[in-house]
Amino acid sequence: MCGIVGYVGKERCVEVLLDGLKNLEYRGYDSAGIALALPDTGRIETAKEVGPLANLTDVIGRRDEDFFKVRSGVGHTRWATHGRPSEANAHPHTGGGDPLGPEVAVVHNGIIENHAELREELKGRGFEFRSETDTEVIAHLLAEKVADGEPLTEALAGTLKRLEGSFAVAAMSVHEPETIVAARHQSPLVVGLGEGENFLASAVQALLGNTRRFLFVENGEIVVLTDSSVEIQTLYGQPVERETFEVDWSAEAIELGGYEDFMLKEIHEQPAALQATLAGRLDADGVVDLSELELGDLSGIERIVVVACGTAYHAGLLGKYAIERLARLPVEVAVASEYRYADPFGDERTLVVAISQSGETTDTLAAVEAARGFGARVLAVTNTQGSLITRDADTVLLTKAGPEVGVAATKTFLTQVAALYLLALELAGSRDSRSSEELAEIGLGLRRSPEKVEEVLGLLEGRVGEAVEVFAGARCALFLGRGHLYPAALEGALKLKEISYLPAEGYPAGEMKHGPIALVDEQCPVVAVLGEGILREKTLSNVEETVARGARVIAIAREGDQAGRVARVVLPVPEMPELLSPLVSTVPLQLLAYHVAKARGLNVDKPRNLAKSVTVE
Ligand code: M6R
Repeated sequence: MCGIVGYVGKERCVEVLLDGLKNLEYRGYDSAGIALALPDTGRIETAKEVGPLANLTDVIGRRDEDFFKVRSGVGHTRWATHGRPSEANAHPHTGGGDPLGPEVAVVHNGIIENHAELREELKGRGFEFRSETDTEVIAHLLAEKVADGEPLTEALAGTLKRLEGSFAVAAMSVHEPETIVAARHQSPLVVGLGEGENFLASAVQALLGNTRRFLFVENGEIVVLTDSSVEIQTLYGQPVERETFEVDWSAEAIELGGYEDFMLKEIHEQPAALQATLAGRLDADGVVDLSELELGDLSGIERIVVVACGTAYHAGLLGKYAIERLARLPVEVAVASEYRYADPFGDERTLVVAISQSGETTDTLAAVEAARGFGARVLAVTNTQGSLITRDADTVLLTKAGPEVGVAATKTFLTQVAALYLLALELAGSRDSRSSEELAEIGLGLRRSPEKVEEVLGLLEGRVGEAVEVFAGARCALFLGRGHLYPAALEGALKLKEISYLPAEGYPAGEMKHGPIALVDEQCPVVAVLGEGILREKTLSNVEETVARGARVIAIAREGDQAGRVARVVLPVPEMPELLSPLVSTVPLQLLAYHVAKARGLNVDKPRNLAKSVTVE
């Protein structure tokens, strides 16, 4: 995880770095720091603070004017991997120099796997370590080369050749104060292009207030930034040409815009996010068009494997349900961190669908690589243009949720689910597995989903408070659903545990009797996601079993459903074709988790121990 940012150009370096870090804080918030090349002397000065970026911003706010005239520097926001959150372990890390300041400064995202050997080797040569981080070896290796007279770019190339693991690293040297160098291997890094200034960052959203034009840096490349040039080269000094790409996200999308938290804002952005994801892909008759994917002849596909983590995995489970129902193709859904080590097999008739909001989850990328090993075709479903997964996949189905800042995924989940429904319709159409009338009916239902989500937000206005009261004194929670509503239950449980820290289990309602029912008492509320028809009846019977054991029940049910006879609180959702109902049933679960966490006084956007992009194993 961690976020890095770099800047060279005008006398606004501090502002750019802090703004970039603010927009990267979702990647980690254990500490934050910057290193600057001071004007006149060119010396490097660092400032770092433990805790969220606000702590650093406060300290920097007390500095004199000159501090803000700096024209180049690097910054970092940390999610601790090696060494606890402390000032010593906070980045930037420095190397070389004299009592007036260091010779080089480095920020790093990733893990240096051979750091212990390198540390011993460097200690043997007299280097003293000030932190417990893996990153500090990079600073000393680099400083050693720079002190030997190597130009910064060459010194970085030499240093990188010694590293094993994953990294995106940016560095600066007192000898070249107008230059920032950076490189990556497995961790993300983009360059932002400006006029008389250039930028780099872990993700495009760090720089949206400054530019929409970007360059991607590939594994094993070094980028050299000055105010007027950006050069990319290999570790062996060969220049590389790279095309720019433009991002259509706006800087306003990452502002709170009057909401108390990003999570709440993003829940309310779901109708628009769905609308944008469906636009141009579903016509007025409900007929899907995914020709943009250039999937070619789909008739050869015999099997689908979905790989994903966390919330994206839950979206994958819903995708399985829809694809199997509509296209009658077998779908396996695998947790990416398991799949990558499972010695997976298949052939070119296997379509691997890799789902990742960020497009940079390490395990999902590794699962894609494993599938490549047996010749699978890979389709990525991602929300992030220019992300790593877009480089690794054969084709990309972009969700258009816009940037999501809250660590808990909300609008990106609904748009992933919508994208998978589109895929299911496309596959079904190409295989003639359902009549065109049936498919058009689902297509039309999907087209109406933005309105339906708007409607559910309206229906829930002022209603979730009662459900939050059911959670007073709760020590855990059980989320139940069946069929396509079981993944919704899983997602509800994940939302609750990640932001309220209450243990929560998502379970198939019928399976509950085989263990989890032992959890049930007055302090373990049951949240039941009811659908229609036989599955509703069956789930309701299971719910009655929990009521008999003292459970306080919250039901997510169609408006007008009589679930109130067993549930203390019913959170209503509008009518929807049953297959698509998770699109509306998830919304009350998101709001429930949000309000329970708020009632517990917690920071919903930055839950403890988590980061939004999981770029380590
Ligand atoms: O960026 P990705 O979609 O690959 O992220 C996967 C998970 O880390 C993510 O969904 C995580 O579970 C969320 N915090 C859930 O809200």
